[in-house]
Amino acid sequence: ARAIAYARAAPKVELHVHIEGTLEPELVFKLAAKNGVDLAPYQSVHELRAAYSFTDLQSFLDIYYLGARVLQDEDDFYELMSRYLAKCRDEHVVHAEIFFDPQTHLQRRIPFEVFMGGFLRAIRNAQTEFGMSVLLIMCFLRHLPEEDAITTLNLAKPFVDSIQAVGLDSSERGFPPHLFQRVYEHARGLGLDCVAHAGEEGPAEYISEALDLLQCRRIDHGIRCVDDPMVMKRLADARIPLTVCPLSNLKLGVVAVVAELPLRDMLDAGLCVTINSDDPAYFGGYINDNFEAVIRAFDFVDQRVIHTLLRNAIQASLLPAAHKLALE
Ligand code: ADE
Ligand code: ZN
Repeated sequence: ARAIAYARAAPKVELHVHIEGTLEPELVFKLAAKNGVDLAPYQSVHELRAAYSFTDLQSFLDIYYLGARVLQDEDDFYELMSRYLAKCRDEHVVHAEIFFDPQTHLQRRIPFEVFMGGFLRAIRNAQTEFGMSVLLIMCFLRHLPEEDAITTLNLAKPFVDSIQAVGLDSSERGFPPHLFQRVYEHARGLGLDCVAHAGEEGPAEYISEALDLLQCRRIDHGIRCVDDPMVMKRLADARIPLTVCPLSNLKLGVVAVVAELPLRDMLDAGLCVTINSDDPAYFGGYINDNFEAVIRAFDFVDQRVIHTLLRNAIQASLLPAAHKLALE
């Protein structure tokens, strides 16, 4: 219990959260009413939340993309980001690196200016009002062709100074990282850092591809690294961080119980493991609940383990070295 209280109160860094995954059912219905969006077959917050019972990644993504349809004007994106950043303040998140999925909105004919305008306005407020820092990571949807990702990157060019990195998300199996080599190369040319979801549902091989072919400096999820000792060793030697999301893995059936996550093996191998929330509105908890879940599952009563997880996240961030030092 002391360990849980310690983690809850500690200043934290969040490295894996999709802003569209922070859309709570209450805001879905509020914005649906405002914008005249039909949410059939769901009639109420209660009914929608009851549908949050997933069998795998795809069953979640279907409802996640459905919910995102209520986001229409700049104020909607502002409100979404503002609510998440207020949650960060409440949970003592002092720095957050936040994914957004431009293609989900561009496909609905919402211009880049609209969602970026809303996000950036909310971020500026949080920076001045509660002194937190935020970096944005633009994700490409891997179930769409690379050509689409390249178009998206071109549309992002006017905003490139407000974007820290590119990422890769959505359906993993059957969409290996090597399909996105060209767009990642373009992104690097624009000075963007590279991360990618790999080894969540997909094989350890996708982690190697993300490192070799996309030159990723951090891997999102990455838990399947334990299937390949060579991949494990490489992640440890190069100190490539992994952004693990325990409640996500539980709710998407990647593991049957949190204790099944290979966290001890990963920590014992010297991997830079971090704890994150992924899509907290859908998976039943923000970062503090994720810490609590692993502390309970692994009986991490020793505060040194928690301290390591917290410090790993600072080291794993994409912030400049001087700013990292200030967080230590
Ligand atoms: N998009 C939002 N959450 C995701 C996840 N956990 N994996 C892949 N794509 C996602
Ligand atoms: Zn994710």
